[in-house]
Amino acid sequence: MSRVGVVGAGYVGLTTGACFAHLGHEVVVGDIDTDKIHRLAKGDIGILEEGLPELVAEGLSTRRLRFVVGAASAAADAEFVFLCVPTPRGSEGDADLSAVEDVVREIAPLLTPGTVIVNKSTMPVGSTALVARLLGAAGAVAELGVASNPEFLREGTAARDFLHPYRVVIGADDPAVAVRVSELYRDVQAPVLVTNPASAEMIKYASNAFLAMKVSYVNAVANLCEAVNADVREVTLGMGYDPRIGFEFLHPGPGWGGSCFPKDTAALLHTAARVDDDFPLLAAVISMNDAQQDRVVDKIRDALGGAPAGRRVGVWGLTFKANTNDLRDSPAVAIVRRLVEDGVAVRAYDPAGGESAAELVPGLEVAADPYEACVDADVLVVLTEWDEFRWLDFTRVAGLSTGRSIVDARNLLDPAAMRHLGFAYRGVGR
Ligand code: UGA
Repeated sequence: MSRVGVVGAGYVGLTTGACFAHLGHEVVVGDIDTDKIHRLAKGDIGILEEGLPELVAEGLSTRRLRFVVGAASAAADAEFVFLCVPTPRGSEGDADLSAVEDVVREIAPLLTPGTVIVNKSTMPVGSTALVARLLGAAGAVAELGVASNPEFLREGTAARDFLHPYRVVIGADDPAVAVRVSELYRDVQAPVLVTNPASAEMIKYASNAFLAMKVSYVNAVANLCEAVNADVREVTLGMGYDPRIGFEFLHPGPGWGGSCFPKDTAALLHTAARVDDDFPLLAAVISMNDAQQDRVVDKIRDALGGAPAGRRVGVWGLTFKANTNDLRDSPAVAIVRRLVEDGVAVRAYDPAGGESAAELVPGLEVAADPYEACVDADVLVVLTEWDEFRWLDFTRVAGLSTGRSIVDARNLLDPAAMRHLGFAYRGVGR
């Protein structure tokens, strides 16, 4: 079992630390946010993530998981240091690596020979080499290893994705370093792929961009379905049975969002531009996604008879997808913001992200439950696919709302049942 230092206690770092501790390693997670570290040390993880509170509690009780303030304390005694700090979108669409650079400079003098620095956060092609150069420039000892080990964690199922991954990718020029990193995953059942660092970095971006492309594609197909009287649900079912296509990531909606796809597609486009490649397919995937939000807003305006100002809309769902409390780059938040700017009175309910959304969108009213969101609403809008919205008492919903009109941007509800209750129903691609 190894001593693992994790720098950054966000989604990726916390999941990485808790799961490595579960696998038997001695883990120290460091973050500059003192309050967060104090909360984590008490087992309060502050995010909605299935199974993660239990793993953190387990790690704290076995003392294999510790939380400390600062990168240096996490890295000082480690055999492996996982860099899990944010790599947000820079001003040009590139990934901003300043947090990575600061951490590497800070920890470089502390590292002992044989330590391996592992890039876990999503970082552009060339970042593993950059870390190696920064270590050298910052006066680190020569005998260090560097590797890329990208994460493929979905928010909401991050712990499961870590412990039961589709694959483990390790990018390292030194085969001995790759073997050492792979040994950390000894008890994980998954194919391990060893590549050079650039390929590992590219695997991560190409995977996220491909998934984003699938969603943009199905959104485009859904729009076409509306025009030719086809039902996208039947279409994707018929497509998905072909294993070359598959069923996953073929659900149309208000566009992809979250902390990864928007940032990573922009960064990949930026990487392409750096080598004079326009990557028009990827550019279209991104612009298609922006247009999809416009289409949902247009549907809501239509449902309001083209005169949105002064009307009332009830919204179900604000997070960027279900089973997370994350509102970052949420299409739902962007759509709600545009409605509020149109002069619409919006009252929204979300099982996990409501209170924080009110801070992001001034003027947004937050409802305590899904029924309160419907009171006197001219139009009801489903923006996030929380399962609980399927099972509401729709007779009660019909009684509470003024206009019987639903825009279901996630195709969550049964159109026939809604029409039976007297609702005008607008879905996506059906
Ligand atoms: C994504 C990837 O799925 C992970 O593999 C990756 O590790 C992670 O980014 C990351 O880079 O860290 P996540 O951002 O949690 O994970 O979200 P996804 O579940 O991939 O969904 C992304 C967006 O696509 C959401 O807005 C979701 O609503 C949308 N989506 C997804 C659809 O509209 N339709 C679909 O069929 C699937």
